[in-house]
Amino acid sequence: MNKILITGGAGFIGSHVVRLFVNKYPNINIYNLDKLTYAGNLMNLTDIEQKENYHFVKGDIVDAAFVNELFEKEQFDAVIHLAAESHVDRSIENPLDFVMTNIIGTVNLLNAAKKIWKPVLGATMTDKRFYHVSTDEVYGSLGETGMFTETTAYDPHSPYSASKASSDHFVRAYGDTYGLPVVISNCSNNYGPYHFPEKLIPLCINNIKNNKPLPIYGKGENVRDWLFVEDHARAIDVVFHSAKNNSTYNIGGHNEWKNIDVIRLLCKIMDKKLGHADGTSEQLITFVKDRAGHDLRYAIDSTKLQNELGWKPSLQFEEGLEKTVDWYLTNEEWLERVTSGAYQDYYNKQYAH
Ligand code: NAD
Ligand code: DAU
Repeated sequence: MNKILITGGAGFIGSHVVRLFVNKYPNINIYNLDKLTYAGNLMNLTDIEQKENYHFVKGDIVDAAFVNELFEKEQFDAVIHLAAESHVDRSIENPLDFVMTNIIGTVNLLNAAKKIWKPVLGATMTDKRFYHVSTDEVYGSLGETGMFTETTAYDPHSPYSASKASSDHFVRAYGDTYGLPVVISNCSNNYGPYHFPEKLIPLCINNIKNNKPLPIYGKGENVRDWLFVEDHARAIDVVFHSAKNNSTYNIGGHNEWKNIDVIRLLCKIMDKKLGHADGTSEQLITFVKDRAGHDLRYAIDSTKLQNELGWKPSLQFEEGLEKTVDWYLTNEEWLERVTSGAYQDYYNKQYAH
């Protein structure tokens, strides 16, 4: 494979995947297609933007004509699709944005790949790959026990997870109906550097720094299964290279935490790093109105990925969270530019001439 298209590469996870692929595969041209919505930040990629095998394309996956033209011109060998509207709270406010990007955008990419690769149903295509990066939220919510496996029935509850579930179904349908060489992975909650500070962990890091309240929805009893983002990027590399067509892998850290416990641990780490007395940051915890339709618990069983493809998470949560805090405290300029909105000028300064 000579040319890989990564969509959403200016976002949180996408930027880690782009960095990994650009550095690890210098002979493969990596194209990063991103609309640069509020969540897209080219400052996530300043360390690799000059590399010869890195190419940035600004564009909207909802624009079918643009997507088709790009595929015709570049003749990509593979797609790793991460572009999405990703924030559950925003999906509750504005579901249509999620329908457009997550469903229509995905179908546009599938159509464009089908057009240039010309798959034949029943014939195995080994030199092309359409890899769709998805979420554990498609499986819905767990009670006190059990875990999501690859065969758990889909039961999405939020407009975000409904849109991701729909896109997963379209990807499988293109495999089953047209023979498109598709692969899907469903991952649990990521955390780490370059995480946009609307999501729980970076929001609270930023708020502790600025002595602002830490908003915990409901009683903070909801459970998430946290994975360090670089471990997710490594898993994507493994699945991309080793999975069979039409397969699905769950990716997760076997690392369940109640939200309130995550924030208490974060407060402890922040107090230590900022030289504050133990207990200082916890005083900022504020219980607020619960998220509508808030899923109680996610837990991913990634046994299939670990047994079949040999991937496993590398970091314990305490270690990963400390590393994350260190990154945010060291990269104050990144955080300042994100919170002030200045990051959105970077494309014009660096690329648009
Ligand atoms: P993100 O919101 O940080 O980044 C999304 C990127 O997609 C941004 O750069 C944005 O500019 C781009 N984008 C949005 N709409 C676009 C459009 N119409 N055309 C082109 N580009 C567009 O998201 P993330 O957290 O990095 O998530 C990446 C993917 O991984 C998503 O598909 C998400 O569903 C999935 N996922 C995320 C997590 C998580 O914990 N963050 C976990 C599992 C799966
Ligand atoms: O499970 C994977 C999913 O994880 C991804 O598919 C999504 O793209 C990603 O955003 C994430 O979704 P969550 O809704 O779990 O992440 P978020 O950081 O928004 O919230 C984590 C938990 O914290 C959740 O139970 C809601 C709660 N929360 C969130 C925010 C923003 C709060 O209590 N307070 C907050 O201010």
